[in-house]
Amino acid sequence: MSCRVWTADRCRCSTNLETISVYGLGRVGLVTAVCYAKKGCRVIGIESDQLRLEQIRRGNSPFYEPGLTNCLAETIKDGSLVVTNTPSLSSEAKICFVTVGTPNTSDGSVNLNDLRRVLSTIAMLRQDDRRRIVVVKSTVPPGTTRHIVKPILERETRHRFGLCYNPEFLREGSAIHDAEFPDRIIIGGEPLDSAVLAEFYKKMHEPNLPKLILTNYENAELIKYANNAFLATKVSFINCIAGIAERIPNADIKTVADAIGLDQRIGSSFLNAGLGWGGSCLPKDLQALVTLSKRLGHDPKLIEAVIETNREQRLKPLGAARRALGALKGKRVAVLGLAFKPNTDDLREAASIFVIRGLVNEGADVVVYDPVALQAARLVFDNAIEYASNAQTCLDRADCCIVVTEWDEFRSIPPAVFVERMRRPIVIDGRRIYDANEFIRAGIQLVAVGLGPSVPD
Ligand code: UDX
Repeated sequence: MSCRVWTADRCRCSTNLETISVYGLGRVGLVTAVCYAKKGCRVIGIESDQLRLEQIRRGNSPFYEPGLTNCLAETIKDGSLVVTNTPSLSSEAKICFVTVGTPNTSDGSVNLNDLRRVLSTIAMLRQDDRRRIVVVKSTVPPGTTRHIVKPILERETRHRFGLCYNPEFLREGSAIHDAEFPDRIIIGGEPLDSAVLAEFYKKMHEPNLPKLILTNYENAELIKYANNAFLATKVSFINCIAGIAERIPNADIKTVADAIGLDQRIGSSFLNAGLGWGGSCLPKDLQALVTLSKRLGHDPKLIEAVIETNREQRLKPLGAARRALGALKGKRVAVLGLAFKPNTDDLREAASIFVIRGLVNEGADVVVYDPVALQAARLVFDNAIEYASNAQTCLDRADCCIVVTEWDEFRSIPPAVFVERMRRPIVIDGRRIYDANEFIRAGIQLVAVGLGPSVPD
């Protein structure tokens, strides 16, 4: 990285590297800030939550994301990333990325309060006419950039801002890689503003620059929703076929998914049948899309079916446990995996929440284990369930085990361990991580998503 000499207040850099600011250091903002700091930008990260800010300042990530803590500590240490709750320190920045959360309200519409607040702050800080571009990355309904963001920027200052909408497609668990190597970059905005942002990305991502798609605000906003809706649709589709496969002797969704995925028109990703999709984005964005669509007078039947399929899918282990054990009251059920997917500690809309709530409601004694999400789970379930310190002890004396998240460390548990530790070796493989034949041969009663009953010729 090129040499940096900071003045006393660490706000000016002697290099002519780009200064950018990132408002909101959540999962998207912090990864974006660290990624561009590593690529040679001088980044000012603005975060209003004092606790989170202090943690980041010490070089600790407030959430689990593989590789992030190392990069964060490095960029904080070398001064390429400065984090603050004082927005005025970012007035130098030519490009202001806005990455604040846009959660859904109870009626499914999108809460833009944080976005509005940050935009007013950015506009009020504006004191000169040097070119500045505000880049909104937060997911917002189509029309928001033109009809809400732009007027706020114009209302608060007489100076003109450039404005782009630039959706983010980072996945939790591989966010650093995704930030470094995006599949494509979508920029919505007026041609002159988009050209400035495109130039920034060219500098940052050469020689791995992906396709840049320059379009208007509305298309860029809709692309984000359509993208997530399509991913969720693929998962709900394969889970629907899995439900059919479960009723066909000798059928196996894995073989079916592998084969249809080889059709290039379909593609192999997002065809893993399991306990459905969760997380901070897909559920919220699909709900927001339904609300938007209805408001526009269009009946979003397909998206509603995708959501409903997912709602049922997450509850499937409860039915399977009841069928295997009878009444669940007093039965000890081990749950392996809590995070909504591996490599994250995020429990938002995780299948585990729905499964565990169902088990607890039916009086089961639930014991759980997850490599990184136990702390988050304690905040949700407190002492309603038991927390094991590793996967093997989680299985001790269990009447049934449900695999909810496909962490690698669960894949390597040999069937003998289930047989030795559990009271009854009943395994519900919600993510298809085990070899059915091997488990059945070991004497395990295996119920697996998308696996039909085995019937010999
Ligand atoms: C998603 C989008 O992928 C990303 O582009 C956007 O920026 C944020 O939302 P993320 O929430 O990290 O990313 O999760 P993702 O990897 O998309 O998985 C979503 C859910 O689908 C998870 O619960 C996962 O377990 C499930 N899934 C995914 C399946 O059940 N089967 C699959 O084949 C793929």
